Amino acid sequence: MFHPSLRVKLTLVHLLLIAALSLAVGIFTLASMQRFFKQRLAQNMETELQQVHYLLQHTALGSIAEPMHYQELSRYANTSHFRLTLIDSSGVVRFDSKISVDSLALVDNHRNRLEVRMALNEGFGTDQRLSSTLNEPFYYGALRIKHNYLPQTKGEMVRFIRIALPLAEIQRQFQDLRRQIVIAGLAAWLLIGCFSFWLAGRLSYPIQKLAAVAEKVRRGDLEVNFQHRSRDELGELADHLNQMLNKLRRDMVQLRKLEQVRSQFLGNVSHELRTPVFTLLGYLETLLHSHFENAEQQQEFIGKAYQQSSRLNDLLSDLIDISRIESGEMKMAIRSFDLHAFLANQCDELQKKAEQQHIALSFANVEAKNQVWVKGDPEHLSQVITNLAENAIKYNVENGTVEIGYREAGEGVEVYVQDTGRGIPENHLPRIFERFYRVDKERSRAVGGTGLGLAIVKHIIEAHGGQVQVQSQVGKGSRFYFHLSRAK
Ligand SMILES: Nc1ncnc2c1ncn2[C@@H]1O[C@H](COP(=O)(O)OP(=O)(O)O)[C@@H](O)[C@H]1O
Ligand SMILES: [Mg+2]
Repeated sequence: MFHPSLRVKLTLVHLLLIAALSLAVGIFTLASMQRFFKQRLAQNMETELQQVHYLLQHTALGSIAEPMHYQELSRYANTSHFRLTLIDSSGVVRFDSKISVDSLALVDNHRNRLEVRMALNEGFGTDQRLSSTLNEPFYYGALRIKHNYLPQTKGEMVRFIRIALPLAEIQRQFQDLRRQIVIAGLAAWLLIGCFSFWLAGRLSYPIQKLAAVAEKVRRGDLEVNFQHRSRDELGELADHLNQMLNKLRRDMVQLRKLEQVRSQFLGNVSHELRTPVFTLLGYLETLLHSHFENAEQQQEFIGKAYQQSSRLNDLLSDLIDISRIESGEMKMAIRSFDLHAFLANQCDELQKKAEQQHIALSFANVEAKNQVWVKGDPEHLSQVITNLAENAIKYNVENGTVEIGYREAGEGVEVYVQDTGRGIPENHLPRIFERFYRVDKERSRAVGGTGLGLAIVKHIIEAHGGQVQVQSQVGKGSRFYFHLSRAK
């Protein structure tokens, strides 16, 4: 298959159009010129006939009966480049510039020649045909004249003057004209062809450039740009494409970052799972292959295996939570609820855990006994309070305290969990809400942390339209707090 470039196509279309146009113009011009030519020819013919008529009437040339004048008239016709015939009223040829007097008798009767018949009826007639006398194409013109002005020819009166022009001559002139028109047309066509090829090149160059850049993009190179100087639709297209590329680049950067975060997370997850799984396997293997001296020893191993399993369980449920939150699968069911009653209840439930660690946990607003209506999802906020309080208990000091409470803050209510614990070093503060981030890995593991608690807290509070914040001082304690809006 022939797949011409845009440039060639444009040029071809141009040439085709111009060829059609010049053909149409050429044909029209030639036709009208031919018509004009014929009209002029007929006019000239009539003028010449009148001239001959005048000569015959007013000079001695009219007396063709005399051989000398016959010859004289023949010469006159020859120098005028036409053939002259004089015909009488019965159609007999009395004079012919191409035939000698002696042969005149052999010439056919001309009564029925078309131009003669036309002249008989209308005074003037023309025709165009092959001469039967001379076997050559001629253009004929005949003039009828009045009896009383006629020259005498052997007693008969000449009735018609006829002039014949050899058509070969006329046709040659016309062909010359036609050739000139065709040559001029071809030259113009060629010139326009060159010009339109150049123009098509100029037009298609920016398109070619665009295509080349697009090809690069297709191959995956996003660091390119569509460069142009045109202010037309092509320039606009290039601008749009550049904007698209910019957006694509931005998206790609984000996508790569996301991919990086995802694979990092997957690595972290596998790493986190490995330790409890291996430890659990170790305990189970010991239980299977060892002979225990007493039941207590065996019980101890079973207890340790159980601990690891529950650690695994915690890790898995935190992982499920975080992936459900991040995938958007977990939806907040925001409604109005009484924050006071909610927090009092949370404190009750956490009391046992605190006591086990010898930590005094208290509800700061216990005296208020009023209702505080806020908007939020109590199930998920319960998870937030539990996570924060468990941290406050776990990372506390011997006989430390934890206080859970709320207070007025502008339009809304601030909820806080604060402890008298070890505190968080300032350089760690910005990162503690990241997944798997721990200040002290060993301590976190020892107290059964998954490293996901604060990440879950952050997600849930953000889904409430808020932000968890933290103030902490090493050796003094930490305070985690966030805002809830009031229910109107
Ligand atoms: N109240 C707190 N006091 C001191 N450190 C804390 C407190 N809360 C959180 N941290 C630090 O932030 C880290 C991340 O907390 P979290 O996401 O809940 O993970 P985990 O408790 O499972 O270790 C903890 O490992 C701990 O180092
Ligand atoms: Mg925690």
